[in-house]
Amino acid sequence: MSEVAFDGVTKRFGEVTAVDQLTLDIADGEFMVLLGPSGCGKTTALRMIAGLETVTEGTLRIGDRVVNDVEAKDRDIAMVFQSYALYPHMTVARNIESPLVARRFHVDADAPPRKLTAAERSERVDQAARSLGLTDLMGRKPAALSGGQRQRVALARAIVARPSAFLMDEPLSNLDAKLRAQTRIELVELHERLATTFVYVTHDQVEAMTMADRIAVLNEGRLQQVGPPQAVYERPHNLFVARFIGSPPMNTVPGTVVRTDTGVAVQLGGQRIDLDPVAHEPLADGTEVVIGVRPEHLAVDPDGQVKAQVRAVEWLGHERLVVCDLAEHHITVRQSSGAEPVAPGDVLALTADPAHVHLFDPNTTERLN
Ligand SMILES: Nc1ncnc2c1ncn2[C@@H]1O[C@H](COP(=O)(O)OP(=O)(O)OP(=O)(O)O)[C@@H](O)[C@H]1O
Ligand SMILES: [Mg+2]
Repeated sequence: MSEVAFDGVTKRFGEVTAVDQLTLDIADGEFMVLLGPSGCGKTTALRMIAGLETVTEGTLRIGDRVVNDVEAKDRDIAMVFQSYALYPHMTVARNIESPLVARRFHVDADAPPRKLTAAERSERVDQAARSLGLTDLMGRKPAALSGGQRQRVALARAIVARPSAFLMDEPLSNLDAKLRAQTRIELVELHERLATTFVYVTHDQVEAMTMADRIAVLNEGRLQQVGPPQAVYERPHNLFVARFIGSPPMNTVPGTVVRTDTGVAVQLGGQRIDLDPVAHEPLADGTEVVIGVRPEHLAVDPDGQVKAQVRAVEWLGHERLVVCDLAEHHITVRQSSGAEPVAPGDVLALTADPAHVHLFDPNTTERLN
């Protein structure tokens, strides 16, 4: 049993509320990513699970046990940090073995925990090393390893103890882009093999989108939304999530709902965007909204209702980002690089895919549709 449940958990450091009334259930075997900007409370939430930080208010459970007062060493959890924190004077093999040496483990049914024998330790070390491709490096010291290899040693050291949950705090941030991409895939495979709960902290939405079963988006200590990556991307619950997830971010422009006999639209300065009259049936005439459209859901179209002037074009090889001025706002249009070229100063007619128009309340910032 290794589900992790936050129930109204708050953590304060003096005046600072690092985590604010967090309620979040992480299922047994789930890959949960805590995602949010710097300072939003990700590490603090993880450290509370590990038992490295106390809970100020609320209850934290691991399995069916309330762990508010359980010491870190009694929690059956392994944590991997951004800095790998390997022992420099020990070989890879000894580093991987280190968590097995001091602790006692439940190995015999119905018997109290005991120290592992040398043979049992060596079997676990070999198995962990094999599953992370480290077998040929066992005799080396950390200084003779690349960053990616060191990170794999840190992961192997976390898995030897066979904990019921793994906590990872930005474990890939010291790796270059190529190695990060490769290690993401390895982590997903490791999660599948171990079938154990992973709680993974990052501010990198690509890591979150590619690895998570579910993402929990945090801002200023508060949970904004939790759900599978695609659901969070497609139906952000509020403006923060809408703008934080997606690169380049969702275009968001304030406007006013206009109802006519023939339909419903949003007025943006001197321009209008028609909305799907059925989907937006409940919106009253005159409602102030923020309309959101992702760059890939805007298209250049001679019949387009919205006119915007090109300010800059960013060519990225497989695609182009066209940044336009719309009244006093900037909006970005994503195009394939095969589309008709455009240049700064051109005035484009744009359409927004009506199935992908998001509306938010400018005051509460909550989703309206
Ligand atoms: N030991 C501490 N004492 C006082 N304030 C702290 C302490 N640890 C964290 N904080 C504060 O709590 C808030 C959340 O910090 P936390 O480290 O959890 O953020 P984070 O989301 O992990 O950020 P980052 O992405 O930069 O690592 C921040 O405002 C931080 O300054
Ligand atoms: Mg952190």
